Amino acid sequence: MTAYDHIPLEGFENLSSDEMQNHSKTFLEHIKRRRTVRDFSDEAIHEDVIKNCILAAGSAPSGANMQPWHYVAVQNPAVKKQIREGAEAEEREFYQRRASEEWLDALAPLGTDANKPFLETAPWLIVVFASKHTMTPEGEKKKHYYVPESVGISTGMLITALHNCGLATLTHTPSPMKFLNEILDRPVHEKPYMIIVAGKPAEGVTVPNITKKSFDEFAEVV
Ligand SMILES: Cc1cc2nc3c(=O)[nH]c(=O)nc-3n(C[C@H](O)[C@H](O)[C@H](O)COP(=O)(O)O)c2cc1C
Repeated sequence: MTAYDHIPLEGFENLSSDEMQNHSKTFLEHIKRRRTVRDFSDEAIHEDVIKNCILAAGSAPSGANMQPWHYVAVQNPAVKKQIREGAEAEEREFYQRRASEEWLDALAPLGTDANKPFLETAPWLIVVFASKHTMTPEGEKKKHYYVPESVGISTGMLITALHNCGLATLTHTPSPMKFLNEILDRPVHEKPYMIIVAGKPAEGVTVPNITKKSFDEFAEVV
C-alpha cells in the first residue's frame, strides 16, 4: 500500500451564510441557462478555452483517485468528418432498426434523427473515454474503481465549465461507439463514453420546449 503525505487544505473559501445563499442563487440562475443545442455556429473557439475546461473536468473526484477518463479534443475537419460518418451509420441503424417504439416515442419531442451535421459544423468535439484499468510502466494492469460514476461526474464538470465560458454543448451518444476507438486510435480497454459537442449556438437556434422537474418532484429534505 502506498502512504500519501498530507498537506494543509489551501484555497478554501470560508463564506458566510449570506454569501453562500447568494452564491447558490447566482449559480442556479447561471446553470439554468444551460440548454442542449443541436445546431452550432462554425465560429472558431480558442484551444486554450477547451483545454482549461478539460483540466476542470480532470479535477473531478474519482474512485480511489484513479481518474479513469481520457479526453480527446477534436478540431481537425478530416477527423470530425470521419466521426460524423461513423455516428450517422450507427444512428441510421438505431432509428431504422435498433430503437424500440417506446424509445422513439421518448425522443419524438426532441425532433432528433440520424443526420448529425453538427459533428462537422461545431468547432470542437470532445470525445470522452472511460477506462477500466491502466497499464503500469511494467506492463501490469491496475484496476479502476467506480468508473461510470467517476467519468459521469467529470463529464458533468466539463459541461458546466464549457457553459461557464459561454459555450453551448450537446451530449451525443451514438450507440454503439466502438468506431471512436478506431478513428481516435484508443486502446480497447477504453470505452467510448460520450461525445460532447461544443461551440457557439447557430444564430436563431431553437431548443425543444421542455421543462425540468420541480424540487419536490425529484428531491426532498428530511
Ligand atoms: C447520457 C446522455 C445522452 C444523450 N444523448 C443524446 C444524443 O445522442 N443525441 C441528442 O440529440 N441528445 C442527447 N442527449 C441530450 C438530451 O436529449 C438532453 O439533455 C435532454 O433532452 C434535456 O435537454 P437540455 O439538455 O436542454 O436540458 C443526451 C443527454 C444525456 C445526459
